[in-house]
Amino acid sequence: MVIKPRLKGGLALTNHPIGAKEFVKRQIDYVKSQDKYEGPKKVLIIGSSSGYGLATRISLAFGAGAETIGVAFEKGVEGKRVGSAGWWNTIAFNEAAEKEGLVSKNFIGDAFSMEMKDDVIKFIKEEFGGKIDLLIYSLASAVRTDPIDGVTYRSALKSTTKDITGPTINFEKEVMEETTMGVATPDEIKSTVKVMGGEDWKLWIEALDKGGVLSEGFKTVAYSYLGPKVTYGIYKEGTIGAAKRDLEHTSDVLNDFLKEKYNGEAYVSLSKALMTKASAVIPIFPLYAALLYKVMKEKGIHEGTIEQKHRLLTQMVYGNNPVIDEERRLRPDNWEMREDVQAEVEALWDKVTPDNFKEISDYAGAREEFMQLNGFDFDNVDYDADVDLDELAKLKP
Ligand code: NAD
Ligand code: NA
Repeated sequence: MVIKPRLKGGLALTNHPIGAKEFVKRQIDYVKSQDKYEGPKKVLIIGSSSGYGLATRISLAFGAGAETIGVAFEKGVEGKRVGSAGWWNTIAFNEAAEKEGLVSKNFIGDAFSMEMKDDVIKFIKEEFGGKIDLLIYSLASAVRTDPIDGVTYRSALKSTTKDITGPTINFEKEVMEETTMGVATPDEIKSTVKVMGGEDWKLWIEALDKGGVLSEGFKTVAYSYLGPKVTYGIYKEGTIGAAKRDLEHTSDVLNDFLKEKYNGEAYVSLSKALMTKASAVIPIFPLYAALLYKVMKEKGIHEGTIEQKHRLLTQMVYGNNPVIDEERRLRPDNWEMREDVQAEVEALWDKVTPDNFKEISDYAGAREEFMQLNGFDFDNVDYDADVDLDELAKLKP
């Protein structure tokens, strides 16, 4: 079967398993080109198969020699359906890790469930040496079933103030178009906090603590985003911002608990804007990212997913140069938020039109990044070659 890209707005309907291998390999190559670092030895990553969670896993394994457990929600081959990008990323990671003798174990399923927590804890106890040093919380999800009351909540990407209309990029049609984000009901705000807030992170830490699998000095970091003024309406002041504030509150609660019992730490880290499966569907965000890339690349300070996570880990979480704000948040987004960067992005934002957006933004770069998340647009992958789906279907993460 020959696999071609098919898009629907900011969603990729297909992905390329051979391209996924290249996607993972390039991130590994980056980490190997950098100095090794002293980091954690045993790590659990929730949301390990794509975006920031995958990059974190790659940095920790190939940069610090960590053994990793990944939890992700992905699908394998079903009939003529090729499976999800995160499925192939995970298989590619495993293959590369195994070659270097790095232990990697995957749990594919619902991180929000108690069964998943029990399964992971059992594995840590019986086959992973008994304890973990670090938990990374990098979930992006649209739905969560609360394991305690059994209710299923759906997140809504909406405003909490007023209808917000603004430009975005449609990668399918390759146009800049207006999009409107409606106002959330109180119920939708509550549901988004249920899905993307800190409740599940806390349940994980409580379960791991009760299971006796946290080491002395244990750390946990949850990933979040804040963003600049031009995206406040959709992000900071949106439903997702409400959820992220809940996550920040949870980090303080967890930090007090972990400090007391394990001499440990809990942080929220605010990362840089990037194209990922999750961010590509946020209205307005893709255009902001394309303008930001233009400015950051010109200044020589652009980072992709792997560079951003590698800097967070080597300089901040396991290094001596943490950038921490007055709200105790780690700030690897510090280059994105620089005043000169944001001033130039704002100037471009005022100038951008459907006619000039491909020239004045880094549209090509943002689109390429989006395509590569799904294994497409690598110059060294042959996309006309037949992919043997039956053979690939035998592989499991
Ligand atoms: P992503 O979509 O690439 O990754 C999400 C991960 O969550 C995947 O591994 C997926 O399998 C997993 N997942 C989703 N639902 C699950 C479930 N029920 N059970 C188990 N696993 C599940 O997203 P991303 O952009 O890497 O986002 C990760 C975090 O980083 C989010 O908290 C996001 O807010 C944050 N972040 C993203 C950006 C950005 O620009 N993309 C910027 C800053 C912070
Ligand atoms: Na992730």
